Amino acid sequence: MSTGRTIVVGITGGIAAYKAVNVVRAFVLLGNDVHVVATEAALRFVGRPTLEAISRNPVHTDLYEGVAEVRHVAIGQSADLIVIAPATANSIAKIALGLADDLLGNTILASTAPLVIAPAMHTEMWNNPATVANIATLRQRGVTIVGPGIGRLTGSDSGPGRMEEPETIVDAALAALAAHRADTPASVPAPDLSGRHVLISAGGTREPLDPVRFLGNRSSGRQGVALAEAALARGAVVTLVAAHLEVATPPGISVHSVSTTVQLQQAMRDAAASADIVIMAAAVADYRPTAVQSGKIKKDVAGDRVTLDLVRNPDVLAGLVQDRRPGQVIVGFAAETEPDDTARRELGRTKILRKGCDLLVLNRVGWTQGFATERNEIEVLDGAGDIVLEAAGTKLSVAHRILDSILGTTIDAARVDAPVS
Ligand code: CTP
Repeated sequence: MSTGRTIVVGITGGIAAYKAVNVVRAFVLLGNDVHVVATEAALRFVGRPTLEAISRNPVHTDLYEGVAEVRHVAIGQSADLIVIAPATANSIAKIALGLADDLLGNTILASTAPLVIAPAMHTEMWNNPATVANIATLRQRGVTIVGPGIGRLTGSDSGPGRMEEPETIVDAALAALAAHRADTPASVPAPDLSGRHVLISAGGTREPLDPVRFLGNRSSGRQGVALAEAALARGAVVTLVAAHLEVATPPGISVHSVSTTVQLQQAMRDAAASADIVIMAAAVADYRPTAVQSGKIKKDVAGDRVTLDLVRNPDVLAGLVQDRRPGQVIVGFAAETEPDDTARRELGRTKILRKGCDLLVLNRVGWTQGFATERNEIEVLDGAGDIVLEAAGTKLSVAHRILDSILGTTIDAARVDAPVS
């Protein structure tokens, strides 16, 4: 059944172009009229006949074809959605600059449809300040960036830069289209984090006891992921260090999956080197087993009572504060079971003074409170331990309030205003 939608899939010249065939196919199978606009370089990686057979439409490449029907603007004007997959570093730079030296550039400039970009490149190119700035520019203009994923790249290298899987791109693109249609100007958050690199840890670390068991905690990662989503919507470049999340991460952020506290510490240290704002929302295991058994612990060997010998894990937050780069704002979280408000705030005050971070998000947790729910109730303490914000609501609305307080006047404004390096 036809959706009546016209989707333009732009394909640029990267090896991931072969995966774009499945993006085209998925859109066609969903009933869309799909038109492929490929660069010359893209057609070196994937054949025109393949794309024409799968899209069921001619593939357009040449700016000087179909001049009589003004094709260089007609395709863009007819599009309900434009998806660029893969988007190379070069094509991202061209789109950010608004260049129109080929049919794809003209199509994008002539369109008011939502634009979705799935970058694919080597990690060094993705991390290059030029690409980082171009991506920030595009995000600020409302372009949806899907991925890149982290994994094996074309050579023997691996890291961030791998094009997201076709299903993820298609889902994100359709979500962007739905959001575009539902959009009202009031629902678009201000891009007040544009160009900032926000680093967030989320979820709960796990410490293995043996190959099948671990010590863990009940954190689902929902509040951390909501912070990532909110920061992204406000224009930030977002890195999420994810420890066993129970929720999906929004497309457009860079996700580093970790398991143990030591792994989380390494990932946070690496990413903090370029972050402007660091938020430690993860529930971090304070102890790990002194020794991890190489085989499963067996009852007939261990007997009726088992004692675990645990060793202290590093304090990740305190380490980040110690190594903080100039201008970096660091935010901690504290989940406390203390029911008395005054006593709980005092625990928070002691904690922020001990950790030395700029803000501490304090919430009450219990058997039925705080975990795996869509809502949260928090207080934010400043460096002196004074309450600067109280917020309750969905985890996404709370996330926006937390970001407001980070950008607010309660901390040294010069820190937040320090330039991104
Ligand atoms: N945290 C951390 N490294 C740890 C423990 C905690 O970075 N080993 C971080 C958490 O991510 C959170 C903040 O420190 O942002 C406070 O965590 P919490 O568990 O409340 O504090 P602890 O220092 O572990 O103190 P407590 O004895 O109350 O558990």
